[in-house]
Amino acid sequence: MSEQRTKIAILGAGKMGTTLLEAVLGRGVWRPEEVVATGRNEERLALVGERFGVRTTTDNAAAARASDLVLLCMKPQNLVTLLEQTRDALTPEHTVVSIAAGATTMDVEAGVAEGTPVVRAMPNTPVRAGAGMTALCGGRWAVARNVELARGVFETVGRTLVLPENYFDAVTGLSASGPAFLYIVIESLAEGGVKAGLPRDVATELAAQTCLGAGAMVLATGSHPALLKDDVTTPAGCTTDGILAIEEGGLRVTLIKAVTEAARRAGELMN
Ligand SMILES: NC(=O)c1ccc[n+]([C@@H]2O[C@H](COP(=O)([O-])OP(=O)(O)OC[C@H]3O[C@@H](n4cnc5c(N)ncnc54)[C@H](OP(=O)(O)O)[C@@H]3O)[C@@H](O)[C@H]2O)c1
Repeated sequence: MSEQRTKIAILGAGKMGTTLLEAVLGRGVWRPEEVVATGRNEERLALVGERFGVRTTTDNAAAARASDLVLLCMKPQNLVTLLEQTRDALTPEHTVVSIAAGATTMDVEAGVAEGTPVVRAMPNTPVRAGAGMTALCGGRWAVARNVELARGVFETVGRTLVLPENYFDAVTGLSASGPAFLYIVIESLAEGGVKAGLPRDVATELAAQTCLGAGAMVLATGSHPALLKDDVTTPAGCTTDGILAIEEGGLRVTLIKAVTEAARRAGELMN
């Protein structure tokens, strides 16, 4: 690898790593020559290099040394090995951003030189559609500039929020696991549409766009969801009959438990 200065290293160019890579290049935040991507599999890496025109290497330490911003995009179980490989390469001049679910800033700080700024980010899969939700927090050596640098990456793929780290298990249970819960909701709404006589493709499109629209309304108006629900519900109309079925089926309790169970599990991931 040449010693040319790279701005950003994506260590672990898997699904999330390549999504971020595509977004930062697509939005023109970084140019291909400013990016280096790593992985363990040379053939897969070659495909990444060909597709995005970025440099690739299996040498994580070299990639880190040549960069200012280093994104750790591997699975939590591979993080310890990665940090052993980069122990001498990550220094206080870097901004290290980890997206490994369940890994705290302290977990990452334990594997880098003292004083190295670490930012933890928790994105979700809709980043692949540019509609992600990413929570960020800075570790003990991160200052606002480090958090903002990391935020700039995730803003290319959706919304971002900077939050205290003690919220992160809850964030994981809600916005990181949440898309899976909502796919079940979309699938179920579509099933209802099919039962009411719609073709499946039409029902699925109606269900998905309706969920997107409801989310957009909450964000655009800032109104409490209950008030928006009341707007749809006319006296003795059809929506109120549907709401009765939802309450009988316990949908609220089911979703509350889905989030709290996922959040509880998030706290166990690195154990
Ligand atoms: N997917 C999501 O929606 C999502 C949401 C929030 C957070 N996350 C977090 O994002 C991280 C990545 O998830 P993913 O879905 O993108 O996983 P993935 O597709 O499996 O990507 C992980 C990549 O890391 C590489 N890797 C592992 N150890 C490495 C090492 N020592 N050096 C260099 N590369 C290494 C793997 O390479 P090989 O293919 O060669 O093994 C793989 O390409 C996870 O920590 C996950 O918790 C994901």
